[in-house]
Amino acid sequence: KQPLRIALAGLGTVGVGVIKLIEANAGLIARRAGRPIMITAVSARSRGRDRGIDLASYAWEDDMTALAARPDVDVVVELVGGSDGPALVLARNAIAQGKALITANKAMIAHHGMALAQAAEQKGVAIRFEAAVAGGIPVIKGLREGAAANRVERIFGILNGTCNYILSTMEDTGRDFAEVLAEAQAKGYAEADPTFDIEGIDAAHKLSILSAIAFGAKIDFASVDTQGISRILAADIAQADALGYCIRLIGTAEADAGPDGTPGLFQRVAPHLVPVDNLLAHVDGPTNAVVVEGNFSGRLLFQGAGAGDGPTASAVVADIIDIARGMDTGFEADMAFSIPVDGLEAMAPA
Ligand code: HSE
Repeated sequence: KQPLRIALAGLGTVGVGVIKLIEANAGLIARRAGRPIMITAVSARSRGRDRGIDLASYAWEDDMTALAARPDVDVVVELVGGSDGPALVLARNAIAQGKALITANKAMIAHHGMALAQAAEQKGVAIRFEAAVAGGIPVIKGLREGAAANRVERIFGILNGTCNYILSTMEDTGRDFAEVLAEAQAKGYAEADPTFDIEGIDAAHKLSILSAIAFGAKIDFASVDTQGISRILAADIAQADALGYCIRLIGTAEADAGPDGTPGLFQRVAPHLVPVDNLLAHVDGPTNAVVVEGNFSGRLLFQGAGAGDGPTASAVVADIIDIARGMDTGFEADMAFSIPVDGLEAMAPA
């Protein structure tokens, strides 16, 4: 079979992870995808940077937004980041060119996901973003597929690896916030601008994406009540500990009737006191954990590495494999967003 040809934009932690994963596991990926997966072209902000990998066998494109128009590309993988700018231009170009789009960009999906999904649907191309939420954990696949028969009643969990690393490390070592944040950045967990992590914005991006899928609502990032962890002191952690709690940044979404009884969606990200015997208290380091409560499934727990090169690359390449399989069956576009809905979609702004 013809190889599936990939253009890769963005060669940071995750982009380099994707190249290493595709090179290391090429044989098994080809078997599972039903065809070889081949990166044909790459682009990033800087060509010269030493990334510890050999890029010689890939065509280089100076203008990353031009990757989509290349005739040797079937699928565009966007790992540039940023809700707007070149990432969004590239995403739109990919769809306009009829190429499948895979992205790990939670900010872009939180802000523009509905418009992109609609454009993709019109064009009949796939758009996938498993890596945008909770790194290596297949929580979007879990929701869409595993919980497909359920009414989801609530979804909550730890959605930012950097904050969880900071809180759990401060708790274990008594070290200072700034020092532990610098360590999380050095390990490649944090966003380019770590404000997005520590102010809860990254978790809010992810929560808004998950709740759209779980509740069949439009993505509504603006209505997530968001509070971060930047004001939490070592003394707060010690005080919580003395009372039998730890502190975790938790995102929650649930269907919630407003004061007049109309259905709506409650979405909040905030530091919570978690009893030390609760399962979320045992989630340490850059780990994420998402609990989905379905009306027939009961509680499902999705836990794993929420950040980092290998886990996030693993979610990106799983999406590539899906596209490789789906291109033969043509089911991609309607998988962009499930819209089951019980009146909720009418509540969210377009
Ligand atoms: N900065 C994010 C985190 C990366 O720490 O969770 C994964 O989205």
